[in-house]
Amino acid sequence: MGFRTRPRPLPPRAEKTWVRKDELQRTDAEGRLFRIAYASRTRDDLRLPDLQAIAEQAAARNRQSRITGVLLFGQGQVLQWLEGPAAAVCAVMGAIQRDPRHQGVSVLSAGWIDARRFPDWSMQFLDAGERAGSVVPLAVSPDRGAAARVFDGAAVRHWADRDPEGICTAQGLAAHLARSPEESLPPIPERFLGCPRARAGLVDEVCRTLGQGWMDSRYSGFEVTLATVRLNRLMLLAGRPADPREARASAVVLAPDRCSELTGALMKTDLLRSAGYSVRLIAWARVTSLRSSLRGTGNCPIIIYGGRVGIDSRDAKRAAAMADWLRADYPGRTILIGGRSAGPLSEWPDRLAFHSQGGHPVAGKPIDWPALSALAADPVAALAR
Ligand SMILES: Cc1cc2nc3c(=O)[nH]c(=O)nc-3n(C[C@H](O)[C@H](O)[C@H](O)COP(=O)(O)O)c2cc1C
Repeated sequence: MGFRTRPRPLPPRAEKTWVRKDELQRTDAEGRLFRIAYASRTRDDLRLPDLQAIAEQAAARNRQSRITGVLLFGQGQVLQWLEGPAAAVCAVMGAIQRDPRHQGVSVLSAGWIDARRFPDWSMQFLDAGERAGSVVPLAVSPDRGAAARVFDGAAVRHWADRDPEGICTAQGLAAHLARSPEESLPPIPERFLGCPRARAGLVDEVCRTLGQGWMDSRYSGFEVTLATVRLNRLMLLAGRPADPREARASAVVLAPDRCSELTGALMKTDLLRSAGYSVRLIAWARVTSLRSSLRGTGNCPIIIYGGRVGIDSRDAKRAAAMADWLRADYPGRTILIGGRSAGPLSEWPDRLAFHSQGGHPVAGKPIDWPALSALAADPVAALAR
């Protein structure tokens, strides 16, 4: 590697970063969007082709009502994500709940969302059986956390289908960051810089490639460290979003002291801010001063950094120890551990919304979806009834 005797001047800071592209399908043109995610068990005689047929017919109907989403099937279990105009989503949910082809419909999460997660899929069927290829397999009776991971996997698949070259770009970039001399480092393509989700996807894939390369002995520890430092520098030079002035919610991102790198924590902070969260990033957090660092953060969720590249197993252990301490000291508060094993970085805003909008809205009572649909379609008429 060639070292220069004089530092080169830094390139000018990019103007106008974090412009959300049309590809994120903002809600402005569509009105507010609503999302329901549920789990159910299929009738015993239903097989994979039956579910495929259900999804195909559903997709045709959903196109008419501007509903998008994904239907996953494995172990006799269904997970479905429906997003679109609230009246349409609640109406179809009423029909789905009555459908005798499955039972035990249990809503995992329901609420307003800022953008569609599956804009290209009218109702994509994915096989999430035991040996399911790129999708996280479905567990029998998945809890909310397990279901969230399956949906995260489906979302990554959706975005990879949209940008198949993204993975090659990331793998090539990882190699350059680890090995190329300073003067031949390539710039990060504009399309990754303008869109927070795409940027996070790139960082995630670079980190995954580096971690895997280290495990396969293709990269040394030094090369991986150099690459992550350079990656952070490129992202910092490209610009970072500030805390939103009118935040829709808050979150704390916490990196325990002595953690090996901060890539995931920085990226997560940026992603959540660009999704409208006010984020307090507490870097190098120590248990002894944690209470004062968390003062004024209310009851908002805390995400603990757990190591994105994954070459230092102590990162995950420190995160687990800090989570135990926080759960004991702040009972009832949502404490989530990030890092490589938590799933893709790009999914954090959706993952957080999924968790915070979780649970049966009125515990123990069946949901009257047709009434909710009527309310969403015409609140004045529905209330007058
Ligand atoms: C697991 C499962 C998922 C379904 N998903 C959808 C869907 O996304 N959109 C849809 O229109 N129908 C879906 N259906 C079919 C509906 O339950 C229902 O049969 C269809 O909407 C017609 O309803 P109707 O007979 O009340 O008009 C699904 C059915 C099952 C069993």
